[in-house]
Amino acid sequence: MIKKCLFPAAGFGTRFLPATKAVPKEMLPILNKPLLQYGVEEALASNINNMAIVTGRGKRAIEDHFDNAFELESQLIGTEKEYLLNDIKHIIEKSTFTYVRQRKMLGLGDAILTGRPLIGNETFAVILADDLCYSQDQGVLSQLIETYNKYQCTIVAIEEIPMDKVNKYGIISGKPLDGNKDIYQVTKMIEKPKLGESQSNMAIIGRYILTPDIFDILKEIKPDENNEIQITEALNIQAQNGKVLAYKFKGRRFDCGDVKGFVSATNYFASKFI
Ligand code: G1P
Repeated sequence: MIKKCLFPAAGFGTRFLPATKAVPKEMLPILNKPLLQYGVEEALASNINNMAIVTGRGKRAIEDHFDNAFELESQLIGTEKEYLLNDIKHIIEKSTFTYVRQRKMLGLGDAILTGRPLIGNETFAVILADDLCYSQDQGVLSQLIETYNKYQCTIVAIEEIPMDKVNKYGIISGKPLDGNKDIYQVTKMIEKPKLGESQSNMAIIGRYILTPDIFDILKEIKPDENNEIQITEALNIQAQNGKVLAYKFKGRRFDCGDVKGFVSATNYFASKFI
């Protein structure tokens, strides 16, 4: 059973400056709800109650958001606005939040390795909150967990993207597993290939199920030319040594780390929920 979800949330959010100068990008709202809360709700909907968050300097708003706010609550109690805090209070009651700070920005791989003390030696989920996923029926993380329960190995969520966007993602190559066109056994992964250098358009999006051997692999990965330790490189080693699957999820994904993607998500959620 997967009990913990890791949320790397230490990045600077440079694509969203100046908004992210003092506000963590994970706290930017789609409608009235911060991106990270959508992620936590997706984890809860997959029966995960332990939220392990990798933060950094300037991210204290995240801890405050997932904690009681006595002054605010006592102001609202008994008024017609009291219900506005119901959802977040419910989340706080159902979850345990643990935090660790990443001291240097050394990439997603390093952020995940920094989360090791919060995870221990068990298989865990990872949600990148700026990839906002929406699925009317089963949530995307829950779909991944269902796949894990069947195959018991590392799983990454993938999406087919336009060929001229492959340089923005980790890209996988693989062969369909058991004739299933939604699940691939990964043969190779490349982080952000140059345009024209990739045959595949299957991009990793921000949902992973990782077996704990990933940590020892990550420890050995050297930073790339941008001084980042890439999770993709560790996954590639895992795929060569054993089995890594890529799962084509059902639903929609919005890249909310980017202004255009954020606006599309806002419009989509507004058309559905307002
Ligand atoms: C990270 C990963 C990349 C993945 C992407 C999904 O990149 O390194 O492999 O495709 O998340 O959003 P980032 O968006 O942090 O540059």
